[in-house]
Amino acid sequence: MFNTKKTALITGGCGFVGRNLTRRLLKEGYALWIVDDCSIGLHCDQWLPGADRRREVAPGVIEYDGGRVIFVLGDARDFFSGRTELGPLEQPIFGDVFHFAAVVGGRLVIDGNPMAVAIDLALDALCFNWAVRTKPDRLLYASSSAAYPVDLQGKDGAVALKESDIQFGGRLGQPDMTYGWSKLTGEYLARISHQHYGLHVACVRPFSGYGEEQDLSYPVPSIALRAAKREAPLTVWGSGLQGRDFVHIDDCIEAALRVLARVKDGSAINIGSGKLLNFREVARLFARLEGYEPEIKPLEDKPVGVHSRYADISLMQKVLDWQPVISVEEGFGRVLRVAHERKSKGL
Ligand SMILES: NC(=O)c1ccc[n+]([C@@H]2O[C@H](COP(=O)([O-])OP(=O)(O)OC[C@H]3O[C@@H](n4cnc5c(N)ncnc54)[C@H](O)[C@@H]3O)[C@@H](O)[C@H]2O)c1
Repeated sequence: MFNTKKTALITGGCGFVGRNLTRRLLKEGYALWIVDDCSIGLHCDQWLPGADRRREVAPGVIEYDGGRVIFVLGDARDFFSGRTELGPLEQPIFGDVFHFAAVVGGRLVIDGNPMAVAIDLALDALCFNWAVRTKPDRLLYASSSAAYPVDLQGKDGAVALKESDIQFGGRLGQPDMTYGWSKLTGEYLARISHQHYGLHVACVRPFSGYGEEQDLSYPVPSIALRAAKREAPLTVWGSGLQGRDFVHIDDCIEAALRVLARVKDGSAINIGSGKLLNFREVARLFARLEGYEPEIKPLEDKPVGVHSRYADISLMQKVLDWQPVISVEEGFGRVLRVAHERKSKGL
């Protein structure tokens, strides 16, 4: 085993959040195992620093940088069930576990293929069963703001969502589609894992995380690309009056690590900016950063989800002694720079 201070497992480590966390943990001296079936994520060869120093130790099991990273290309459900063929390797007892593997897919998938998203229930159930058996030091479960009751996010009377709006043992409300239901169930399993099995486990409820290398199926990078192409009119989905709470991925990662260090009883903390921005404002901001003034055109036939989803960040500020530091102007500026690179590659 590579000699570093801690070995962490990241499921879904080839996805948007996972890739960013991987780079951060490598900087902090971790050795890592990544399990991802690359149904959405990018193979480690395409993005891992030092990917040229690789060795296949078993079919679909690749060691990078002398064992600093072990990449298991496969289904996390098999990994948790001990069905993955690891060749000469054995699953270590992990220090930290970051469970990110999930069918996510943006609004089109959440609304358009809810049964595919329901697979997340199986992934999470197997993850927590595995964790209470193998007892890693700490586990972070990626829940979501989609776990919040949708009736608090309507056109009339949307509120800043606070952690206590979900009460296990009290009011749970109706989460957002199968995606929200699976996250709510995952959070319940996290609590059970702590209360009945003593696992150190923390949950995060990220709002709309965005960043430079996010897939173009997400609104921020795709509006950025349209603005980089100076599309006029500049289109947004739905009326464009629906709003979200945007938080840059670097802030998401910092918050997640702080939550893991401070929460161990399976409870959840929001990760958000606390600010609501509607999609017309998003488009206008990108246009301003790009230096033009297009008409903003709504595409009414596109799925939009709830009307207004934003975080109350008072518990996050209190528990983490911290709040996001990257403003939307700064973060969207970074995304726009990447949009120009994408444009020059013909995307
Ligand atoms: N990005 C956000 O703003 C945000 C917000 C709320 C919650 N989350 C949660 O954070 C986690 C990571 O999200 P993301 O934005 O990186 O999504 P993503 O789709 O980019 O990453 C998910 C990864 O999981 C992998 N995966 C899917 N099914 C798998 C399986 N059965 N076995 C192994 N790997 C599998 C995919 O290939 C992908 O690489 C998810 O659990 C998501 O629900 C993200």
